[in-house]
Amino acid sequence: MVAIPSLIFRKELMDALIKNAAKDLATCKQAVALTGAGISVESNIPPFRGKGGIWEKFDPMEYAHIDAFMTDPVKVWNALLKDMKGIIDRAKPNDGHLGLARLETLGKLNTVITQNVDGLHQLAGNTDVIEFHGNFAWHFCLACGRRVKTGQIDLSEIPPKCPCGGIYRPDCVFFGEMIPSQALYRSRQAASTCDLMLVVGTSAVVQPAALMPVVAKQAGAKVIEINPETTPLTGSISDYLIQGKAGETLAAILSELERLL
Ligand code: APR
Repeated sequence: MVAIPSLIFRKELMDALIKNAAKDLATCKQAVALTGAGISVESNIPPFRGKGGIWEKFDPMEYAHIDAFMTDPVKVWNALLKDMKGIIDRAKPNDGHLGLARLETLGKLNTVITQNVDGLHQLAGNTDVIEFHGNFAWHFCLACGRRVKTGQIDLSEIPPKCPCGGIYRPDCVFFGEMIPSQALYRSRQAASTCDLMLVVGTSAVVQPAALMPVVAKQAGAKVIEINPETTPLTGSISDYLIQGKAGETLAAILSELERLL
């Protein structure tokens, strides 16, 4: 028995899984995507967990919990939010975002459920994006509730203040806060009515977002993961994992799918 060098084996396995995913997308009626920070890594936005993850540097309970923000907004603004603003301002959609937008144009995918707050799915062209954790594009005043575009905030003073004197906070969901009920309701509805769910770039450890692939599976959908690493969904909820980066994997799936359609 000739041992196939693992690199060749791996490439052949990847190619076969990409062909599989293209076939599954070609025959599906209504796909939904669940995305996490990993889909934006190729847009130079670091993930939270794993290699280069933000939570490797900062304890999320000390910097991303609502109680931490209310206790010391200066600390959270200085350590986390200021950098986040710069990174997101510079970020552009990558082939992963563009691939999901193309799936919508092809009539294959109608909804993206995202845990990300970077707005890159909308920039790429997806028109139905459920933002599970809000969007960093907006901030609001803790005192009077005034909403402003993040680009209009003056960061020469930390924490940035509203003309009424109140402190601005991002329109994102901190740990310790509820997921917007509309986002939760619509996500469960999308997950329970799709026949295929693409799970792209999420460690699938934060609930209730990580429940959506379970809801899809229970409703009879095929669940396909795209991630360089395995997750708690792999081998139990996911039908298969394509172990690759979101951008190059989705680009390869789309070119195979366009050949089939
Ligand atoms: N392509 C695809 N996946 C990638 C890539 C890439 N290029 N690079 C990394 N990944 C994978 C990692 O292997 C990991 O499984 O993306 C995942 C990123 O996981 P997290 O950083 O935990 O991000 P996410 O799953 O979105 O976290 C969920 O946790 O801290 C909260 O609010 C935060 O929304 C976030 C939530």
